[in-house]
Amino acid sequence: MTELIIIKPDDMHLHLREGDILKYACKDTAKQFARAIVMPNLQAPIISVDQAEKYYLDIKKNVGIYNFEPLMTLFFTDLLNSDEIKKVSDSEIVHGIKLYPSGVTTNSDNGIDSIEKCFNIFELMQKHEVPLLIHGETNDKSVDIFDREKVFIDRHLSQIHSKFPDLRIVFEHISTKEAVDFVIGTNDKVGATITPQHILLDRNDLLSGGIKPHHYCLPILKRTEDRLAIIKAAVSGSQKFFLGTDSAPHFRHQKESSCGCAGIYSAVCAIELYASIFESENALDKLENFSSKFGAEFYKLPYNDLKIKLIKKEFQIPDKIKIGTEEIIPLFAGETLPWQLSEI
Ligand code: DOR
Ligand code: ZN
Repeated sequence: MTELIIIKPDDMHLHLREGDILKYACKDTAKQFARAIVMPNLQAPIISVDQAEKYYLDIKKNVGIYNFEPLMTLFFTDLLNSDEIKKVSDSEIVHGIKLYPSGVTTNSDNGIDSIEKCFNIFELMQKHEVPLLIHGETNDKSVDIFDREKVFIDRHLSQIHSKFPDLRIVFEHISTKEAVDFVIGTNDKVGATITPQHILLDRNDLLSGGIKPHHYCLPILKRTEDRLAIIKAAVSGSQKFFLGTDSAPHFRHQKESSCGCAGIYSAVCAIELYASIFESENALDKLENFSSKFGAEFYKLPYNDLKIKLIKKEFQIPDKIKIGTEEIIPLFAGETLPWQLSEI
């Protein structure tokens, strides 16, 4: 196959940031994606529908010529109450609430300390059909970083799903075989996003032969067997698994540092990466479902009217993205991929 036309994809897990980065991140994404679920973990997190509406307008101002729809989320804090849940459920632009265990990743200090204390809100979310998006890692620092996802499933996620079986849950950026197995074992209310890095890289790519800060993200990259389980899920044709890049830009100096930030920027080459992966798995015919249909179905959105064309022509990922005097280094900077986006 040398040409592929698919419905313009949705990125169901994305960080667009604010300030200088926002402009670049919006354009890179809007070129490839028709919509994206936008994460709320700004330095001052988005905790109300009013704030989400302002952020929505900021994003819209920055998408340039593209017809792009940001799908907003709120950051789950102890301040969430029934009025706000009702507002979310009535809102046309807010599509879910993202729960971060406190301190588990970038800008998550205002997250949740006790999952059990959230049960009354989960009950309301279930009732009002508001999706719960979860960063599924324990923040218990005594747990080995490579086990934090598995422990979160055992301690919390299984319990949440069995207590609230009708609550729609997105298990974000799954990174382990245990997460794949958990999602497969749930009802149709539970889905999961899959990033390119958790398909393509394992912990050797992060730590062997020198530390690679641009491969550092959370959940941290795991073992080859985890990676293989995630690829298998992505190309399985199950509508539980859909595209979510977790593209998360940080300036180069913040990554190449004695205490580097977690986050991988893939928005410049995301759909090309997924196309290359699906091609190597002989599953290009499944790409459109994964990238453009299953996520929309989960969020009860119509499919996009727009299409994109991918052609089999080498594409060189930029070495860097310059933002004023700063730089962002994308995933696989300078490397070549077999597919590229083309004018339709
Ligand atoms: O690697 C990550 N970066 N994982 C997250 O959960 C957050 C994200 C960010 O905001 O930079
Ligand atoms: Zn994320």
